[in-house]
Amino acid sequence: MSDPRLTDLLQAVPALRVKTDPADLEHYGRDWTRRWTPAPLAIALPGSIEEVQAVVRWACQHRVAIVPSGGRTGLSGGAVAANGELVLSLERMNRVLDFNAVDRTLTVQPGIALEAVHNAAGEQGLEYPVDFAARGSCSIGGNIATNAGGIRVIRYGNTREWIAGMKVVTGTGELLDLNRGLVKNSSGYDLRHLMIASEGTLGIVVEATLRLTDPPPPSNVMLLALPSFEVLMQVFSAFRERLQLEAFEFFTDRALHHVLAHGAQKPFEETHPYYVVTEFASGDEVQEAAAMAAFETCMDNGWVSDGVISQSDAQAAQLWRLREGITESLARYKPYKNDVSVRISAMPAFLEETQKLLGEAYPHFDVVWFGHIGDGNLHINVLKPDGLDDAEFVSQCEQVTKLLAESLKRHEGSISAEHGIGLVKKGYLESTRSVAEIEMMRGIKRVLDPEGLMNPGKLFDA
Ligand code: MLT
Ligand code: ZN
Repeated sequence: MSDPRLTDLLQAVPALRVKTDPADLEHYGRDWTRRWTPAPLAIALPGSIEEVQAVVRWACQHRVAIVPSGGRTGLSGGAVAANGELVLSLERMNRVLDFNAVDRTLTVQPGIALEAVHNAAGEQGLEYPVDFAARGSCSIGGNIATNAGGIRVIRYGNTREWIAGMKVVTGTGELLDLNRGLVKNSSGYDLRHLMIASEGTLGIVVEATLRLTDPPPPSNVMLLALPSFEVLMQVFSAFRERLQLEAFEFFTDRALHHVLAHGAQKPFEETHPYYVVTEFASGDEVQEAAAMAAFETCMDNGWVSDGVISQSDAQAAQLWRLREGITESLARYKPYKNDVSVRISAMPAFLEETQKLLGEAYPHFDVVWFGHIGDGNLHINVLKPDGLDDAEFVSQCEQVTKLLAESLKRHEGSISAEHGIGLVKKGYLESTRSVAEIEMMRGIKRVLDPEGLMNPGKLFDA
């Protein structure tokens, strides 16, 4: 540890764990984007809030930038450290601190994995309902930093809805205790919500109090095959009118092709251009009849050409794998990811326009569409053809993203629904937020992070 700044860090925080091995720098310096070459100064792994505060004070003294780091499953480069930053990994701060049965809250450290939160809530007979495929690796701190969404937003909303309170260390090392689990609190600016989706640019979440709810009702999973894209929203309406939807997700035949190649089981003999996987409450005969009615309406109208309903938990998991396995099955192609959203009512017009735009823009690329259609959130992954240079591929995709961003602006949508802006979408923030808003965000950052050391260069340039 020859860098004098690190010697000083260990003097200031003697019990701090620090890693500087090249393999660690590489491992902790990147997220799932794998576009940037990791080059952090070192990795600090604090074990307490006091240690986090001390590290931040050291960073201010030495003017070292900090990249807060959770499970690094992010898809926008928000946790990338490529410029000599100190990665502040919260992986050692991964415990459940408290369960309050009266408040129905769980207080956790930020490095705890989402799945561990699900289990801890389950042990109390309750539910933390935010859920998505990276549950085993992503951390609550990262979920808060991006306002993570996932597959159950249609029923339970995003991470934001479930944060009853949090402790944050700001860019000056100050500790803020925000909202303290209160249900009602009309006492001025809610800084808690400012922190959610701030991507580590305002401070470091060091503790979170999560709201829990009743376990979901018994449910069933149905996979539907659709003959065309145009009927997607009709199918959605037919199901939403009759059922309490827990999830409503869609994917294309290209997505199915890749998950099957990755080991999933083929659901239908024939191939179809589009698929929907939906989960809905189904605990009694009335609900079962409603599900059949929705399905039959879709069949009668020609909106659905085939369908299968789960007969067991194992089969439900199999159907879910077709949707949840997509990201992993595409990873080897280093996909260029789009994560866009519009209001549900704007979806039909936006889908039509986007399909045309991307059909013309990407005639030779494998473009995989999937996403949380019931939330107005579409994932469009463009796969890098073998042999095409990484930089050339990204630059070609960026040309198309400019057009997509213009279309989103017209439809009043967002360039990032749930992955965050990070580095990947920084150039397109103005398609989603006004110049005045971005200027205000800069001002807010100056207050909470006056030295500009909290995840600099992510979200916007200060
Ligand atoms: C998902 O919903 O599976 C991910 O958020 C999307 C992606 O990998 O692009
Ligand atoms: Zn998603």
